[in-house]
Amino acid sequence: MDLKEIERIEAKYYANTFSRLPVAITHGKGMYLYDLEDRKYLDMFAGIAVNSLGHCHPEVVETIREQSKLLMHTSNWLYTLPQLELAQLLVESTELEKAFITNDGTEAVETAIKLARKTTGKKEIIAMKNAFHGRTMGALSLTWGEKYRKPFMPLVPEMKFVEYNDVDALKRVITDKTAAVIVEPIQGEAGVIIPEENYLKEVREITKEREVLLIIDEIQTGFGRTGKLFAFQHSGIKPDILCLAKGMGGGFPIGATVFSCEDFEPGEHGGTFIGNPLACAVANTVVKVILRDKLTENAREIGDYLLNELEKGGMNAHGKGLMIGIDVKDGKKSVLDLIKKGILTIHSGNTVRVLPPLIIEKKHADEFLSAVGDIKL
Ligand SMILES: Cc1ncc(COP(=O)(O)O)c(C=O)c1O
Repeated sequence: MDLKEIERIEAKYYANTFSRLPVAITHGKGMYLYDLEDRKYLDMFAGIAVNSLGHCHPEVVETIREQSKLLMHTSNWLYTLPQLELAQLLVESTELEKAFITNDGTEAVETAIKLARKTTGKKEIIAMKNAFHGRTMGALSLTWGEKYRKPFMPLVPEMKFVEYNDVDALKRVITDKTAAVIVEPIQGEAGVIIPEENYLKEVREITKEREVLLIIDEIQTGFGRTGKLFAFQHSGIKPDILCLAKGMGGGFPIGATVFSCEDFEPGEHGGTFIGNPLACAVANTVVKVILRDKLTENAREIGDYLLNELEKGGMNAHGKGLMIGIDVKDGKKSVLDLIKKGILTIHSGNTVRVLPPLIIEKKHADEFLSAVGDIKL
């Protein structure tokens, strides 16, 4: 089967939800992906900040093999051990109180909305302009951007938006109806937007002062990507509710909401696949390998190196750790030019996004930089 045939089948049978790049991947190993013709690509976006350990990491493969021999699903009518182990790992590594496992990021945000409304008895949630929090109706109501929202109106009421990185504007918009403020430590889908150094700390202070919950969405920044296990740790603060997903499963679909606020009662929240033993076993392995192999430190070191070299090369690059945006004239063209050089990235408008696996080494960074130099990004 060739790319043309794949495009034909997709157009005929698959929902028209994705504008794909012209590459069909069959397999991967470490930092590399391979297409139908066995062409090799350096993966510099890790499935949108997901494959933290690269592709087919031997310990992940082994975990899947062993856990699938034991148990893949039984539902939450019964206790299963990987789920409990993961909850403990998440609570201990975030220093929050309880964890709820989800299947992905948008569900982690849905869970946060319900917790915030339940805890405070209030309805209003304040999100940031240009934020991305997911595509289910609750999370979508906190996501900025006409293209995501318009066809699906009306969304969940009492959601408000305020300028990102503007503490005074946030102060003005909080009212006695506000249950929570939700914020990304770095806006990812918006094009790797980094707020002022003190922003998150000040948001924490205001939300405390006004007795409003702080939800931090670390679905993209979490699990080492920015050079700390969680990006909120750069600011020395703690959220009330933390949303996680992406890098946590290293490619296996899973997310979590970790919280220090009022808990649910049985029946108020749940789901058939919640805390699936196979997904939880993989996440346990992924998080332990990130911690054991000091991949957070690696993200900081290689991220600094990449950012410095890109800046030295005269590029308009911005980021933290391995979450980097490069502003270019034409985002899509740059991504397509990089593909011809055997490098995979993605773009948000005219920002090329660089989100490689946390296992990246200097030689991979150099391979990327050399391609970037060749195409004069
Ligand atoms: C910050 C943030 N929140 C939420 C989501 C939604 O996660 P998912 O795509 O797993 O539903 C994303 C996905 O890109 C994200 O970057």
